Amino acid sequence: IKEDTLEQLTKLTSSEELQELKVRVMGKKGSLTSLLKQMGQLSAEERPKMGQIVNELRTQLEDAWDKKWREFEKNALESRLREERIDISLPGYSLPQGHQHPLSKVIEEIEDIFMGMGFTIAEGPEIETDYYNFEALNLPKDHPARDMQDTFFITEDILLRTQTSPVQIRTMEKQRPQLPVKIIAPGKVFRNDDDATHSPMFHQVEGLLVDKGVRMSDLKGLLLYFSRQMFGESREIRLRPSFFPFTEPSAEVDVSCMLCGGAGCRLCKGTGWIEILGAGMVHPHVLEMGGYNPKEVTGFAFGMGVERIAMLKYGIEDMRLLFDNDIRFLEQF
Ligand code: PHE
Repeated sequence: IKEDTLEQLTKLTSSEELQELKVRVMGKKGSLTSLLKQMGQLSAEERPKMGQIVNELRTQLEDAWDKKWREFEKNALESRLREERIDISLPGYSLPQGHQHPLSKVIEEIEDIFMGMGFTIAEGPEIETDYYNFEALNLPKDHPARDMQDTFFITEDILLRTQTSPVQIRTMEKQRPQLPVKIIAPGKVFRNDDDATHSPMFHQVEGLLVDKGVRMSDLKGLLLYFSRQMFGESREIRLRPSFFPFTEPSAEVDVSCMLCGGAGCRLCKGTGWIEILGAGMVHPHVLEMGGYNPKEVTGFAFGMGVERIAMLKYGIEDMRLLFDNDIRFLEQF
């Protein structure tokens, strides 16, 4: 039995076959088992001897099986490791990565520049009342200047704000009588306009500085500093007289358009300048509406168009590109 079993053992190729062999020898009808069954026929002296032989045989066979079993297990593990091997030197897949919209980038940059000069950031609602959007800004009902901004009305008194200027009033109301009032207010504004340089929704950043002795030259210096931070040291600005009901005097501010060599591009219409903001000294009525005494304090305010600034900074000739959400366009920034 021993030699036969050990010989068969060397021919085995799988753990299943090993199991079968075990049954053939040790199972109910196995050869070793039947040997044990025959022991009853032996004499009293022979029995313990035979018992010992059979036990030894069993131990030997079990050792041999165990060894073989471990060998199979080891082989199985090795082949699994070989199959599941990962080549860590293969280059990985790169996942698509999103990034900021050019307008968000520009707004953050504007915020950084003004925060660097001690301005804080204020906010106001996009759905505004007639009072804050017009009335308190020195634009009473029936004032012809209301036509400057094609308004989306929701009801007679509620509208989508056409400008960020209402945040001037809201901020002064909240802060009075403390000085200085020194905020910028970025946000969405809405006008019933739609072409290559206008969109029904666009962004502005409002600025307001109220303090004792604020002068127009402070405004000009600040805006020149801002423009050079934003567009580069070689930029110039120019102020053109203009009109806003909430500032007096008022100006429109242009930045030199070096993007296209000063002339010829659609952005600056061949003039070499592009308008980026409206500004002026806060009208006494507006200071009063905000709860400040125009005999004690003065202030300046400005409102800049973020899309215009982005177009100028990145050389975008059609504002609508900023809102089309074409990945091929957006990926460039
Ligand atoms: N609110 C004005 C506009 O939208 C811009 C502006 C803001 C002008 C503040 C002067 C002062 O056109």
